[in-house]
Amino acid sequence: MICLGIESTAHTFGVGIVKDKKVLANVKDSYTTNSGGIIPVNAAEHHIEICDKVISGALSKAKIKLKDVDLISFSQGPGIGHCLRIGAMIARVLSLKLKKPIIGVNHCIAHLEIGKLLTKAKNPVLLYASGANTQIIAFEGGKYRIFGETLDSGVGNFLDAFARHIGLGFPGGPKLDKLSKEGKNFIELPYVVKGMDVSFGGILTNLKQKFNSRRYTNADLAYSMQETVFAMLLEVSERAMFHCNKKELLLGGGVACNTRLQEMAKKMCRENCSKCFILENQFNVDNGAMIAWLGLKEYKDGKRQNIKNTEIKPYWRTDEV
Ligand code: ATP
Ligand code: FE2
Repeated sequence: MICLGIESTAHTFGVGIVKDKKVLANVKDSYTTNSGGIIPVNAAEHHIEICDKVISGALSKAKIKLKDVDLISFSQGPGIGHCLRIGAMIARVLSLKLKKPIIGVNHCIAHLEIGKLLTKAKNPVLLYASGANTQIIAFEGGKYRIFGETLDSGVGNFLDAFARHIGLGFPGGPKLDKLSKEGKNFIELPYVVKGMDVSFGGILTNLKQKFNSRRYTNADLAYSMQETVFAMLLEVSERAMFHCNKKELLLGGGVACNTRLQEMAKKMCRENCSKCFILENQFNVDNGAMIAWLGLKEYKDGKRQNIKNTEIKPYWRTDEV
């Protein structure tokens, strides 16, 4: 069975094609800006402009024709309404045109399930660290649950905001990753873990004040910032692993591409006799393959959806699935 999945929760428009348990194609095009963040209408406009190219790119990569597709899936939420609406609309059109079933899936859970498909992880705790989301997710007691999450912005948006403040542009994550390797002195920053949750707003204010004081180098600030916030994320992940008695940690989301986060996660797992699973970057960032895979999996598990029930869910929570 072949599923074509559409991802459009934020700045990325992605199309994945999965046949049974094999990813045949994973093509995307992302909206970027020279300065400032995402403007929802512009991102939606971008998705409309490039959707044709991305869909045909995925079909030719997979070496199939549109008529070979058996199922259409799409990201139904959570995400930016303007962007979600484009993906949902294209999915509906394809489903009606091809007379094939349609399945809307939860974006956060797709990050977890693609990780299980592509690594040998069986039932991991997922540290999902992206721009807009930061959650510790696991399947436990018969449902998906959130064991900890950010109380304000996602860690990626925090990284990008700091990078913008020090003049690095967007997306800042990869640039901070590189710059932090030149840092030599650790500067103490607020460490904000509240129970199982984390928060970044106060750290961002503190970092901006330190940057404005001109008493520190950018490299030392980037280095200290990464050490601090990644330790926070891994402290909570580690506690969730012990709480659920799980011996597997999976990283997901764009921030999971960060080489220092990967290094720290591996170290923590080694010390706990646990396993750490890291995906290729193309499956960490938002992608269509994970949406195709989760759609196929849910369809095979018996989920059926009427076109009338495909309205987008911008605030759909992982633990409501
Ligand atoms: P979501 O809708 O899941 O919240 P998103 O639209 O925010 O996702 P992602 O691609 O999952 O997008 O994550 C974006 C974040 O990942 C940004 O903060 C970006 O700086 C960071 N990032 C992306 N690639 C890298 C990289 N190679 N190294 C470090 N950070 C990265
Ligand atoms: Fe994502």
